[in-house]
Amino acid sequence: NVVPVVLCGGNGTRLWPLSRKALPKQFMEISPGRTFLGDTLLRTKTMKVRKYMVVCNEAHRFMAAKIMQEHDCIGDILLEPQGRNTAPAVTCAALNAEESDILLVLPADHDLRDSAVFADAVKKGMQAAAAGNLVCFGIVPERPETGYGYMRAGAKNDVGFDVDCFVEKPDLAKAREYCDAGDFYWNSGMFMFRADVFLQEMAEHAPEILATCTDAVDTAVEDLDFMRLSPEVFLKCPSDSIDYAVMEKTANICMVPLDTPWTDMGSWNAFHDFSQQDERGNGSVGDVFLSDVDNSYVHSSKRLVSVLGVRDLVVVETADAVMVSSKEQVQSVGGIVKALTDMG
Ligand code: GDD
Ligand code: MG
Repeated sequence: NVVPVVLCGGNGTRLWPLSRKALPKQFMEISPGRTFLGDTLLRTKTMKVRKYMVVCNEAHRFMAAKIMQEHDCIGDILLEPQGRNTAPAVTCAALNAEESDILLVLPADHDLRDSAVFADAVKKGMQAAAAGNLVCFGIVPERPETGYGYMRAGAKNDVGFDVDCFVEKPDLAKAREYCDAGDFYWNSGMFMFRADVFLQEMAEHAPEILATCTDAVDTAVEDLDFMRLSPEVFLKCPSDSIDYAVMEKTANICMVPLDTPWTDMGSWNAFHDFSQQDERGNGSVGDVFLSDVDNSYVHSSKRLVSVLGVRDLVVVETADAVMVSSKEQVQSVGGIVKALTDMG
């Protein structure tokens, strides 16, 4: 039995204007009735689950609870007053679990085409996790993406490979080198391990985070389905990702290759890649009219959006904001949000 730990505390600013502070991408409706959180929960439905844990921002608790209920997922919702990145979120979940629970850490911002392949990889990883390994799921890299972690496959083992090197978000030159090398995989950002094994790793590599989270879980207030981490304690926690805090440092990782189309839906280009495209490479959602357009992604929420004679563009329309960007710079949309917020 596994305990899925779904991380959905990110702010998703690179998907502005559809993703908003009040409604970040993991909760927004990607198509009628579908959300990323819901899709993530659905992916676990063929597994034997003891219970779920969802870790999110306090402001989003009712959306999280509603989506869990819609998918018949019973468990705990851990509320952060403010995110401190993924290492503290996973640590609090591990402290809230039974020592021998096998946690399956799942980011809520992925599109993964084949759930059966995924369930199979999890089954394999289970053995290695039960034996005391930190298990990652590796994807064959398609391009020198700098937003991902990279793992070098070492010796073959029963479930996949030992990982003898983990590098989080390398620069472009390094990412190119890893792609060319042939034995590097992308880290999919999903992990599996025994709760006690992970806490042991935290004690060794990030003792300050572990100490603060232990205090935060001990003083947490439970009401109804929610477990609120106390702001006085949790906000003192250093901010770090599980990748930098543990995965880059430990020698105890093994990797199960995951052979299915997968993407982190972190930017509009990912939406474009995953859309049904016409013969000129355009993807669109909603009421859209295109004429003489190439390699563009146009997303309409409310109004008819017509686009003429352009290429390599992203256009996103919502009730109160419209965003137009070159595909090349669309990774920087988060910068617009920051600039607008700073302007008040
Ligand atoms: N609860 C909580 N609190 N969740 C968080 C927090 C937080 O403070 N910060 C991020 N998350 C959630 C996000 O919502 C997302 O679902 C997941 O944790 C991963 O965080 P990202 O910020 O999206 O990480 P990333 O994409 O830059 O990098 C990670 O994922 C890549 C693959 O998608 C790393 O694991 C990389 O190594 C990996 O390649
Ligand atoms: Mg991500």
